[in-house]
Amino acid sequence: MNVIILGIESSCDDTSAAVLRNGKVISNRVANQDVHKEYGGVVPELASRAHQQNIVPVVERAIASAGVDKKDISAVAFTRGPGLMGALLVGTSFAKGFALSANIPIIDVNHLHAHILSVFLQEEGEDKKIPPFPFLCLLVSGGHTQILIIHDYLKSEIIGQTIDDAAGEAFDKCAKVMGLPYPGGPLIDQYAAVGNQEAFSFSRPQVKGLDFSFSGLKTSFLYTLRDRVKRDPEFIQNNQVDLSASIQATIIDILMDKLILAAKKTHIHHIAIAGGVSANSGLRKRLRSEGEKQGWEVYIPEFRYSTDNAAMIALAGHHKFLKKEFGNIADPPYARIKH
Ligand code: KG4
Ligand code: ZN
Repeated sequence: MNVIILGIESSCDDTSAAVLRNGKVISNRVANQDVHKEYGGVVPELASRAHQQNIVPVVERAIASAGVDKKDISAVAFTRGPGLMGALLVGTSFAKGFALSANIPIIDVNHLHAHILSVFLQEEGEDKKIPPFPFLCLLVSGGHTQILIIHDYLKSEIIGQTIDDAAGEAFDKCAKVMGLPYPGGPLIDQYAAVGNQEAFSFSRPQVKGLDFSFSGLKTSFLYTLRDRVKRDPEFIQNNQVDLSASIQATIIDILMDKLILAAKKTHIHHIAIAGGVSANSGLRKRLRSEGEKQGWEVYIPEFRYSTDNAAMIALAGHHKFLKKEFGNIADPPYARIKH
Protein backbone atom coordinates (compact mmCIF):
# COMPACT_ATOMS: atom_id res chain seq x y z
CA MET A 1 0.00 0.00 0.00
CA ASN A 2 1.23 3.50 -0.81
CA VAL A 3 2.09 5.82 2.08
CA ILE A 4 0.81 9.25 1.07
CA ILE A 5 1.62 12.12 3.43
CA LEU A 6 0.22 15.64 3.22
CA GLY A 7 2.68 18.10 4.81
CA ILE A 8 1.81 21.56 6.13
CA GLU A 9 4.36 24.25 7.05
CA SER A 10 3.41 27.59 8.61
CA SER A 11 6.09 28.35 11.22
CA CYS A 12 7.25 31.74 9.94
CA ASP A 13 6.47 33.69 6.77
CA ASP A 14 5.92 30.95 4.18
CA THR A 15 2.70 28.99 3.88
CA SER A 16 3.46 25.66 2.26
CA ALA A 17 1.78 22.34 1.52
CA ALA A 18 3.29 19.24 -0.07
CA VAL A 19 2.37 15.68 -0.90
CA LEU A 20 4.83 12.78 -0.70
CA ARG A 21 4.17 9.25 -1.98
CA ASN A 22 6.37 6.59 -0.36
CA GLY A 23 8.83 9.29 0.72
CA LYS A 24 9.15 10.91 -2.73
CA VAL A 25 7.86 14.40 -3.51
CA ILE A 26 4.88 14.53 -5.86
CA SER A 27 3.98 18.16 -5.16
CA ASN A 28 5.31 21.08 -3.12
CA ARG A 29 3.65 24.50 -3.08
CA VAL A 30 4.94 27.58 -1.26
CA ALA A 31 3.18 30.94 -0.88
CA ASN A 32 5.66 33.63 0.21
CA GLN A 33 4.51 36.66 2.17
CA ASP A 34 5.69 39.96 0.71
CA VAL A 35 3.99 42.03 3.42
CA HIS A 36 7.08 41.90 5.70
CA LYS A 37 9.52 43.46 3.22
CA GLU A 38 8.92 47.05 4.22
CA TYR A 39 9.11 46.34 7.97
CA GLY A 40 12.67 44.96 7.99
CA GLY A 41 11.56 41.67 9.56
CA VAL A 42 8.63 39.30 9.97
CA VAL A 43 5.64 40.97 11.69
CA PRO A 44 4.00 38.07 13.60
CA GLU A 45 0.42 39.30 13.36
CA LEU A 46 0.67 39.98 9.63
CA ALA A 47 2.20 36.53 9.17
CA SER A 48 -0.72 34.84 10.96
CA ARG A 49 -3.25 36.69 8.83
CA ALA A 50 -1.45 35.85 5.60
CA HIS A 51 -1.27 32.17 6.60
CA GLN A 52 -5.01 32.24 7.21
CA GLN A 53 -5.56 33.63 3.71
CA ASN A 54 -3.12 31.26 2.01
CA ILE A 55 -3.60 27.93 3.73
CA VAL A 56 -6.72 26.61 1.99
CA PRO A 57 -5.69 27.53 -1.59
CA VAL A 58 -2.12 26.30 -1.04
CA VAL A 59 -3.28 22.91 0.28
CA GLU A 60 -5.84 22.56 -2.51
CA ARG A 61 -3.22 23.34 -5.15
CA ALA A 62 -0.74 20.90 -3.62
CA ILE A 63 -3.29 18.08 -3.62
CA ALA A 64 -4.52 18.90 -7.13
CA SER A 65 -1.05 19.03 -8.64
CA ALA A 66 -0.11 15.76 -6.89
CA GLY A 67 -3.05 14.16 -8.67
CA VAL A 68 -4.03 12.15 -5.60
CA ASP A 69 -7.48 11.62 -4.17
CA LYS A 70 -8.02 13.15 -0.72
CA LYS A 71 -9.28 9.79 0.52
CA ASP A 72 -5.95 8.15 -0.34
CA ILE A 73 -3.95 10.38 2.01
CA SER A 74 -2.49 8.27 4.85
CA ALA A 75 -1.75 11.05 7.38
CA VAL A 76 -1.26 14.81 7.78
CA ALA A 77 2.13 16.02 9.01
CA PHE A 78 2.42 19.60 10.26
CA THR A 79 5.00 21.88 11.87
CA ARG A 80 4.26 21.99 15.57
CA GLY A 81 7.25 24.22 16.41
CA PRO A 82 9.50 26.04 16.88
CA GLY A 83 8.22 29.20 15.23
CA LEU A 84 5.79 32.09 15.66
CA MET A 85 2.87 30.98 17.82
CA GLY A 86 0.14 32.68 15.78
CA ALA A 87 1.60 31.31 12.55
CA LEU A 88 1.94 27.78 13.95
CA LEU A 89 -1.65 27.82 15.20
CA VAL A 90 -2.95 28.29 11.65
CA GLY A 91 -1.16 25.22 10.25
CA THR A 92 -1.76 23.12 13.35
CA SER A 93 -5.49 23.85 13.47
CA PHE A 94 -5.85 23.29 9.75
CA ALA A 95 -3.98 19.96 9.94
CA LYS A 96 -6.13 18.75 12.83
CA GLY A 97 -9.38 19.73 11.11
CA PHE A 98 -8.31 18.05 7.86
CA ALA A 99 -7.25 14.86 9.66
CA LEU A 100 -10.46 14.68 11.72
CA SER A 101 -12.67 15.10 8.68
CA ALA A 102 -10.70 12.47 6.72
CA ASN A 103 -10.38 10.19 9.76
CA ILE A 104 -6.60 9.85 9.41
CA PRO A 105 -3.77 10.38 11.93
CA ILE A 106 -1.90 13.62 12.52
CA ILE A 107 1.88 13.69 12.84
CA ASP A 108 3.55 16.60 14.62
CA VAL A 109 6.92 17.61 13.22
CA ASN A 110 9.78 19.65 14.65
CA HIS A 111 10.73 22.27 12.03
CA LEU A 112 14.49 21.83 12.63
CA HIS A 113 14.28 18.06 12.33
CA ALA A 114 12.52 18.56 9.00
CA HIS A 115 15.25 20.92 7.71
CA ILE A 116 17.85 18.23 8.44
CA LEU A 117 15.93 15.71 6.34
CA SER A 118 15.78 18.12 3.37
CA VAL A 119 18.99 16.55 1.97
CA PHE A 120 16.98 13.36 1.38
CA LEU A 121 14.22 15.07 -0.59
CA GLN A 122 13.76 13.96 -4.16
CA GLU A 123 10.99 13.56 -6.66
CA GLU A 124 9.51 10.28 -7.85
CA GLY A 125 11.89 8.74 -10.39
CA GLU A 126 14.91 10.74 -9.15
CA ASP A 127 18.00 9.00 -7.81
CA LYS A 128 19.85 11.62 -5.75
CA LYS A 129 22.98 10.88 -3.74
CA ILE A 130 21.91 10.67 -0.08
CA PRO A 131 24.06 10.51 3.06
CA PRO A 132 24.62 7.32 5.07
CA PHE A 133 24.19 7.42 8.87
CA PRO A 134 25.84 8.85 10.84
CA PHE A 135 26.51 12.13 9.05
CA LEU A 136 27.19 15.69 10.20
CA CYS A 137 24.73 18.46 9.45
CA LEU A 138 25.35 22.19 9.60
CA LEU A 139 21.86 23.56 10.16
CA VAL A 140 21.75 27.27 9.38
CA SER A 141 18.42 29.08 9.33
CA GLY A 142 16.93 32.41 10.34
CA GLY A 143 16.44 31.29 13.93
CA HIS A 144 19.03 28.55 14.48
CA THR A 145 22.65 27.64 13.85
CA GLN A 146 23.72 24.18 14.95
CA ILE A 147 26.08 21.34 14.10
CA LEU A 148 24.50 17.94 14.64
CA ILE A 149 25.39 14.29 14.33
CA ILE A 150 22.50 12.63 12.53
CA HIS A 151 22.28 9.05 13.74
CA ASP A 152 19.06 8.07 12.04
CA TYR A 153 15.98 9.58 10.34
CA LEU A 154 14.52 10.22 13.77
CA LYS A 155 17.59 10.60 15.97
CA SER A 156 20.12 13.42 16.13
CA GLU A 157 22.54 14.98 18.61
CA ILE A 158 23.51 18.67 18.80
CA ILE A 159 27.29 19.06 19.19
CA GLY A 160 27.55 22.82 18.66
CA GLN A 161 25.25 25.82 18.40
CA THR A 162 25.10 29.59 18.45
CA ILE A 163 25.29 31.33 21.80
CA ASP A 164 23.51 34.42 20.42
CA ASP A 165 22.33 35.27 16.88
CA ALA A 166 21.74 32.72 14.13
CA ALA A 167 23.68 32.88 10.83
CA GLY A 168 20.52 33.88 8.94
CA GLU A 169 19.92 36.65 11.45
CA ALA A 170 23.48 37.91 10.87
CA PHE A 171 22.78 38.09 7.12
CA ASP A 172 19.42 39.80 7.66
CA LYS A 173 20.68 42.30 10.26
CA CYS A 174 23.71 43.32 8.20
CA ALA A 175 21.45 43.72 5.16
CA LYS A 176 19.17 45.93 7.23
CA VAL A 177 22.14 48.12 8.22
CA MET A 178 22.79 48.57 4.48
CA GLY A 179 19.16 49.61 4.01
CA LEU A 180 18.13 46.43 2.19
CA PRO A 181 14.61 44.97 2.60
CA TYR A 182 13.82 41.79 4.55
CA PRO A 183 14.95 39.05 4.11
CA GLY A 184 18.39 40.40 3.30
CA GLY A 185 20.22 37.06 3.03
CA PRO A 186 19.29 36.35 -0.60
CA LEU A 187 20.12 39.97 -1.61
CA ILE A 188 23.55 39.84 0.02
CA ASP A 189 24.12 36.57 -1.85
CA GLN A 190 23.22 38.27 -5.14
CA TYR A 191 25.43 41.35 -4.55
CA ALA A 192 28.31 39.26 -3.16
CA ALA A 193 28.57 37.40 -6.47
CA VAL A 194 30.02 40.52 -8.13
CA GLY A 195 31.87 42.00 -5.13
CA ASN A 196 35.40 41.76 -3.71
CA GLN A 197 35.41 39.70 -0.52
CA GLU A 198 38.82 41.05 0.50
CA ALA A 199 37.63 44.67 0.45
CA PHE A 200 36.64 44.87 4.13
CA SER A 201 37.42 42.85 7.23
CA PHE A 202 35.33 42.50 10.36
CA SER A 203 36.15 41.21 13.83
CA ARG A 204 35.83 37.44 14.25
CA PRO A 205 34.26 35.85 17.32
CA GLN A 206 36.46 33.83 19.67
CA VAL A 207 34.17 31.07 20.87
CA LYS A 208 35.56 27.81 22.20
CA GLY A 209 34.70 24.38 20.85
CA LEU A 210 31.94 23.91 18.32
CA ASP A 211 29.72 26.82 19.37
CA PHE A 212 29.13 29.94 17.30
CA SER A 213 28.57 33.63 17.95
CA PHE A 214 27.38 36.22 15.45
CA SER A 215 26.34 39.22 17.51
CA GLY A 216 29.87 40.73 17.63
CA LEU A 217 30.19 40.47 13.86
CA LYS A 218 26.94 42.34 13.37
CA THR A 219 28.18 45.10 15.72
CA SER A 220 31.55 45.28 13.96
CA PHE A 221 29.72 45.64 10.62
CA LEU A 222 27.47 48.36 12.04
CA TYR A 223 30.40 50.38 13.45
CA THR A 224 32.45 50.09 10.26
CA LEU A 225 29.56 51.45 8.25
CA ARG A 226 28.73 54.18 10.74
CA ASP A 227 32.33 55.50 10.70
CA ARG A 228 32.61 55.41 6.93
CA VAL A 229 29.21 57.04 6.35
CA LYS A 230 30.27 59.98 8.58
CA ARG A 231 33.09 60.70 6.14
CA ASP A 232 31.20 59.76 2.97
CA PRO A 233 27.37 59.76 2.99
CA GLU A 234 27.35 57.73 -0.25
CA PHE A 235 29.63 55.04 1.23
CA ILE A 236 27.04 52.26 1.44
CA GLN A 237 25.59 52.78 -2.04
CA ASN A 238 29.07 52.93 -3.56
CA ASN A 239 30.33 49.83 -1.76
CA GLN A 240 27.27 47.61 -1.56
CA VAL A 241 28.69 44.71 -3.55
CA ASP A 242 32.07 44.71 -1.77
CA LEU A 243 30.41 45.03 1.65
CA SER A 244 28.10 42.13 0.76
CA ALA A 245 30.95 39.95 -0.49
CA SER A 246 33.07 40.70 2.59
CA ILE A 247 30.36 40.06 5.19
CA GLN A 248 29.20 36.91 3.40
CA ALA A 249 32.75 35.54 3.23
CA THR A 250 33.24 36.24 6.94
CA ILE A 251 30.01 34.44 7.92
CA ILE A 252 30.97 31.47 5.71
CA ASP A 253 34.48 31.34 7.25
CA ILE A 254 33.02 31.26 10.75
CA LEU A 255 30.65 28.43 9.80
CA MET A 256 33.26 26.42 7.91
CA ASP A 257 35.94 26.70 10.62
CA LYS A 258 33.61 25.01 13.10
CA LEU A 259 32.43 22.43 10.59
CA ILE A 260 36.05 21.44 9.86
CA LEU A 261 36.66 21.15 13.60
CA ALA A 262 33.51 19.05 14.03
CA ALA A 263 34.64 16.65 11.28
CA LYS A 264 38.07 16.34 12.92
CA LYS A 265 36.59 15.69 16.36
CA THR A 266 33.96 13.18 15.28
CA HIS A 267 35.89 11.54 12.39
CA ILE A 268 32.68 11.77 10.38
CA HIS A 269 33.33 12.73 6.77
CA HIS A 270 29.82 12.71 5.34
CA ILE A 271 28.76 16.33 5.67
CA ALA A 272 25.45 18.01 4.89
CA ILE A 273 24.09 21.54 5.12
CA ALA A 274 20.45 22.52 5.61
CA GLY A 275 18.22 25.48 6.48
CA GLY A 276 17.58 28.80 4.70
CA VAL A 277 21.24 29.88 4.70
CA SER A 278 22.18 26.64 2.90
CA ALA A 279 20.59 28.32 -0.15
CA ASN A 280 23.55 30.73 -0.14
CA SER A 281 25.61 30.21 -3.28
CA GLY A 282 28.88 31.15 -1.55
CA LEU A 283 28.30 28.59 1.21
CA ARG A 284 27.31 25.88 -1.28
CA LYS A 285 30.45 26.54 -3.33
CA ARG A 286 32.72 26.65 -0.28
CA LEU A 287 31.32 23.38 1.09
CA ARG A 288 32.04 21.68 -2.23
CA SER A 289 35.60 23.01 -2.43
CA GLU A 290 36.31 22.29 1.25
CA GLY A 291 34.87 18.80 0.73
CA GLU A 292 37.41 18.13 -2.03
CA LYS A 293 40.24 19.49 0.10
CA GLN A 294 39.26 17.55 3.23
CA GLY A 295 38.16 14.32 1.51
CA TRP A 296 34.52 14.68 2.59
CA GLU A 297 31.40 13.51 0.81
CA VAL A 298 29.09 16.54 0.84
CA TYR A 299 25.29 16.72 0.61
CA ILE A 300 23.42 19.88 -0.28
CA PRO A 301 19.61 20.15 -0.47
CA GLU A 302 18.01 21.16 -3.75
CA PHE A 303 17.79 24.95 -3.73
CA ARG A 304 13.97 24.90 -3.39
CA TYR A 305 14.24 22.67 -0.30
CA SER A 306 16.81 24.81 1.53
CA THR A 307 14.35 27.46 2.66
CA ASP A 308 11.07 26.71 4.41
CA ASN A 309 8.88 24.21 2.57
CA ALA A 310 6.30 21.55 3.40
CA ALA A 311 8.03 18.72 1.51
CA MET A 312 10.57 18.45 4.35
CA ILE A 313 7.73 18.42 6.90
CA ALA A 314 6.01 15.63 4.97
CA LEU A 315 9.29 13.65 4.81
CA ALA A 316 9.77 13.86 8.59
CA GLY A 317 6.10 12.85 8.83
CA HIS A 318 6.72 9.89 6.51
CA HIS A 319 9.44 8.50 8.77
CA LYS A 320 7.36 9.04 11.90
CA PHE A 321 4.41 7.35 10.14
CA LEU A 322 6.54 4.26 9.45
CA LYS A 323 7.31 4.10 13.19
CA LYS A 324 3.68 4.86 14.08
CA GLU A 325 4.71 8.02 15.95
CA PHE A 326 1.45 9.89 15.73
CA GLY A 327 0.47 13.22 17.27
CA ASN A 328 -2.17 13.98 19.81
CA ILE A 329 -5.19 16.05 18.78
CA ALA A 330 -5.05 18.07 22.02
CA ASP A 331 -1.34 19.00 21.79
CA PRO A 332 -0.76 22.72 21.20
CA PRO A 333 2.09 24.15 19.08
CA TYR A 334 5.33 25.22 20.77
CA ALA A 335 7.14 28.46 19.92
CA ARG A 336 10.53 27.43 21.30
CA ILE A 337 12.63 24.30 20.87
CA LYS A 338 11.26 21.31 22.70
CA HIS A 339 13.71 18.58 23.74
O1 KG4 B 1 15.06 28.09 7.06
P1 KG4 B 1 14.47 29.42 6.72
O2 KG4 B 1 13.76 29.57 5.42
O3 KG4 B 1 13.50 29.89 7.87
C1 KG4 B 1 13.77 29.63 9.22
O4 KG4 B 1 13.51 28.49 9.65
O5 KG4 B 1 14.35 30.54 9.85
O6 KG4 B 1 15.68 30.47 6.82
C2 KG4 B 1 15.47 31.82 6.57
C3 KG4 B 1 16.82 32.50 6.62
C4 KG4 B 1 16.72 34.02 6.54
O7 KG4 B 1 17.55 34.57 7.52
C5 KG4 B 1 17.24 34.31 5.14
O8 KG4 B 1 17.86 35.57 5.01
C6 KG4 B 1 18.24 33.22 4.96
O9 KG4 B 1 17.63 32.09 5.51
N1 KG4 B 1 18.55 32.97 3.54
C7 KG4 B 1 19.75 33.23 2.99
C8 KG4 B 1 19.63 32.93 1.61
N2 KG4 B 1 18.35 32.49 1.37
C9 KG4 B 1 17.70 32.53 2.59
N3 KG4 B 1 20.88 33.69 3.53
C10 KG4 B 1 21.93 33.85 2.71
N4 KG4 B 1 21.89 33.60 1.38
C11 KG4 B 1 20.77 33.13 0.80
N5 KG4 B 1 20.74 32.87 -0.50
ZN1 ZN C 1 13.16 27.04 8.52
